[in-house]
Amino acid sequence: MQIHHDISGLRAALQGDAPVAFVPTMGNLHEGHLALVTQAREAVGPTGRIVASVFVNRLQFAPHEDFDRYPRTLQRDAELLAGVGCDLVFAPDEKTMYPEPQGYKVHPPTELADILEGHFRPGFFVGVCTVVHKLFNIVQPDVAVFGKKDYQQLMVLRRMVDQMALPIRILAGETRRSDTGLALSSRNGYLTDDEKQRALLLSQTLRGLLTAWRDGARDVARLEADAMQTMRDAGWLPDYMTLRRQHDLGAPQDGQPIVALGAAKLGQTRLIDNLEA
Ligand code: PAJ
Repeated sequence: MQIHHDISGLRAALQGDAPVAFVPTMGNLHEGHLALVTQAREAVGPTGRIVASVFVNRLQFAPHEDFDRYPRTLQRDAELLAGVGCDLVFAPDEKTMYPEPQGYKVHPPTELADILEGHFRPGFFVGVCTVVHKLFNIVQPDVAVFGKKDYQQLMVLRRMVDQMALPIRILAGETRRSDTGLALSSRNGYLTDDEKQRALLLSQTLRGLLTAWRDGARDVARLEADAMQTMRDAGWLPDYMTLRRQHDLGAPQDGQPIVALGAAKLGQTRLIDNLEA
């Protein structure tokens, strides 16, 4: 497996006709990330090239967020990636990705990007779309794989690829969880053992929302308020606990596929999760 820190070296290594599958990450990899690499391999076969990027993208962090303390573990990440058959790692430093302040940015449409995560993290999806668009231009993949763990991110990026007519097939990876049900996340490393136990409440409460909907409850505002209160009662600070339709994250409607999404802070750590019905 090759590791490239600069764009020209990566591009030279990617010359040729073999299909390229791409898995963008911010590193500190876990089984969820590695499953995306395996999925990428399945998509392009043994002769395809798999590229994973490891770059903690400052543009998608607000000043008060965890950019500085986000774990940077490139050597271990590279070992893990080699272990699942990744061919190339692109690990640029900040000067390589942003040699000058990134004035040109990709602004996703407000109806999709200013709700939920975008509401509580203003500018987040501008940062994500900008870096992913730039990474797409650098890697020029045929296929790119993103996790459903970041459900809204996947949706925003799919629309970007559609609207910008980027010749890239987007694949979605299922959320990987620990045995206890906690969605794997690089940010779980911030949790104490006690918090890891308590963190299960997030997916449990989302499950409760789905169950209530399935059982016929239709007062969504009430269901959501109850779910928020459940989190607060257990000492969390929830941003949102909500039922949406999968298609566009609009209000849920009978007969349409539903997803429950939540974001909440436990101690110093903000976690997100979602479950499809
Ligand atoms: P990061 O949080 O490192 O996640 C990289 C990819 O792994 C994303 O597509 C994410 O949805 C997926 N992922 C994370 N946890 C997962 C899990 N438990 N199961 C399955 N997939 C999981 O998302 C980002 O980085 C950044 O925003 C990025 C797209 C790289 C742009 O900077």
